[in-house]
Amino acid sequence: MSDNKPTGAASSVLDVTSLDVHYGPRRRRRQALRGVSLSVAPGETLGLIGETGSGKSTLARAVLGLVPTTSGTIAIGGADVTSHSRRQWRGLRRRGVIQYVFQDPLRSLDPDLTIEESLSEPLRVGGVPRAEAAERIRAYLERVRLSEELLGRLPGELSGGQRQRVAVARALVTRPRLVILDEPVSALDSANRVQILEILKELRADGTALVFISHDLGSVAGVADRVAVLYRGELVEVGATDTVVNEPQHPYTRLLLGSAPTLHGAPATRAEREALRALLPA
Ligand SMILES: Nc1ncnc2c1ncn2[C@@H]1O[C@H](COP(=O)(O)OP(=O)(O)OP(=O)(O)O)[C@@H](O)[C@H]1O
Ligand SMILES: [Mg+2]
Repeated sequence: MSDNKPTGAASSVLDVTSLDVHYGPRRRRRQALRGVSLSVAPGETLGLIGETGSGKSTLARAVLGLVPTTSGTIAIGGADVTSHSRRQWRGLRRRGVIQYVFQDPLRSLDPDLTIEESLSEPLRVGGVPRAEAAERIRAYLERVRLSEELLGRLPGELSGGQRQRVAVARALVTRPRLVILDEPVSALDSANRVQILEILKELRADGTALVFISHDLGSVAGVADRVAVLYRGELVEVGATDTVVNEPQHPYTRLLLGSAPTLHGAPATRAEREALRALLPA
């Protein structure tokens, strides 16, 4: 069977090779990802950045088997999962090897389940005994700096920042090898944003690999070991965070840097931005 065929880099948590994804029916088919190749090592934090519509969420969803791929391969922990059936993908997601924190925290949490039920569900599915589950839930709640008082509430009874932290705790509680966080801080105010970024930094010490998606290089730069830049469905640059920030190769990366004044002093002038735009393919 091709399902468990080991691929070249067996030491990676995730290997994506020449991935193409299309949306839409045949006549209105649009390509959302084009030849994307990317690996994530155990314990590594990879920042995935790109403007709106560049395909960031599509890549995340493809890696979780939530959108069909046209060509290319996806390997998780060295096992090729590209041709998994829906049922196999569901099994993989339920086992919690990879976890996904959705862009909209409300989507990550069932509105009818209490926070305690939401957090215990993935553990119950994984057969974790009740007492151990209760202990782990409390430990992870503490890690995301939430009080146990929230356990009896519904997601609708939390603030946006609290909800997002519950979503992060839920993703972590199964001790996944890889967590994909889709814009985990963009909907939050700056105090909550800083706190979530701090929590993510602590996770790196655990050996959990993270893919941190953002349109903002500034949020990613302080957390990520490497940064991958997606532009119109193509990866245009991948490199160590310092290198990408200090010596960006692609004009699009330079444009992104120009709009992140926290990284490089003053933002680029309008004329500079126009000059960079002119270098990009039409
Ligand atoms: N279910 C879908 N059906 C058809 N087209 C889609 C679908 N989901 C996304 N697209 C299109 O695919 C492209 C990539 O979308 P995607 O959501 O991956 O972008 P993104 O980089 O996550 O953007 P954002 O920063 O706004 O979240 C966009 O042009 C989008 O309109
Ligand atoms: Mg998105």
